[in-house]
Amino acid sequence: MTTPHPPNNPWLRTASCWLHQRSRGLVCPDTPRLDGKVALVTGATSGIGAATARGLLARGATLLATCRNPARGEAFLASLGDAAGRVTLVPLRLDDLHTVPACAAAVAGRLGGRQIEILVENAGIWPQRYATTAQGHEIAFGTNVLGHFALRRAMLQAGLLAADARVVVVTGDIYALQEDCTPDYRYRGLLGGMYAYCRSKLGNLWIAGELQRRHLGLTVTAAHPGVVTSELFGSSTGLFGWGKSLVMLDPVSGAQTSLYCATQPGLVKGGYYHSTRGLMRLRDSDPALRRERASALWAACEALAG
Ligand SMILES: NC(=O)c1ccc[n+]([C@@H]2O[C@H](COP(=O)([O-])OP(=O)(O)OC[C@H]3O[C@@H](n4cnc5c(N)ncnc54)[C@H](OP(=O)(O)O)[C@@H]3O)[C@@H](O)[C@H]2O)c1
Repeated sequence: MTTPHPPNNPWLRTASCWLHQRSRGLVCPDTPRLDGKVALVTGATSGIGAATARGLLARGATLLATCRNPARGEAFLASLGDAAGRVTLVPLRLDDLHTVPACAAAVAGRLGGRQIEILVENAGIWPQRYATTAQGHEIAFGTNVLGHFALRRAMLQAGLLAADARVVVVTGDIYALQEDCTPDYRYRGLLGGMYAYCRSKLGNLWIAGELQRRHLGLTVTAAHPGVVTSELFGSSTGLFGWGKSLVMLDPVSGAQTSLYCATQPGLVKGGYYHSTRGLMRLRDSDPALRRERASALWAACEALAG
């Protein structure tokens, strides 16, 4: 499904993401089956990632699930019933690059010579205040962009990712509020945190495009899940949680675009898939299409990923 260009005004475009998302939201078919395939989902312990992981398991996949908090990982496993037998938890802190080699080694050990055929780069944060990663990078960039870059690079270098794997990079259409993504963004307060998040989601789109250009055998897509009730914007319990549930998608609906990109035939390589708009047609002026900036960000990540 392809729709007309999104609104030109970025605020209007962001607001339009809420429109029709329940009635016209993408629904991923239950087939094809994924029996025998190995998938890795980052941030599978919560929200959209947990629902994506469940969807992949329901289709028969074997799952590697990264988690930063062992207790939350165990709780996720316990919630899966029999399917937990097909899941391996792998510790990873995307905000600490030192955890990446051990994560890649654990993945290699578990794969035992097999390869990952579906990689869903889902984990993400929306910072409430300025913070930095263990290596001193702005936290939204460091977690959402650089951490995934380092993990993916380690897996590519070790041959853990199949040459024709699908890579789904979870972005957010709110990226359109910003024009750039750099490692050194400084800000204050909630609005600054939102802009840092938007920049990192723009970075996700840039890196997805660069990855596709550099690895033609892969099928790389970026996915906007919709506006989804999860822990991204704080607690989902109490009155606030109830208010969110009235206007946002639940995580199962929010996982449909990631699942679509992870499983469906006929995807456009390097395409950007939106929960209500399908394959996005972007204007030439869209920040996501700034190839020079994308290439510069890739080079910066190469240098910073260590
Ligand atoms: N919710 C929305 O409306 C929306 C809209 C557009 C895009 N997205 C994107 O969807 C993705 C999933 O978000 P969500 O809404 O499901 O949020 P969520 O419920 O907060 O889940 C985020 C996941 O990322 C993990 N994570 C966070 N920081 C991490 C770190 N430093 N290292 C390793 N894992 C980390 C979390 O682990 P813990 O369990 O340990 O916290 C959790 O599993 C994100 O990329 C987000 O940008 C969401």
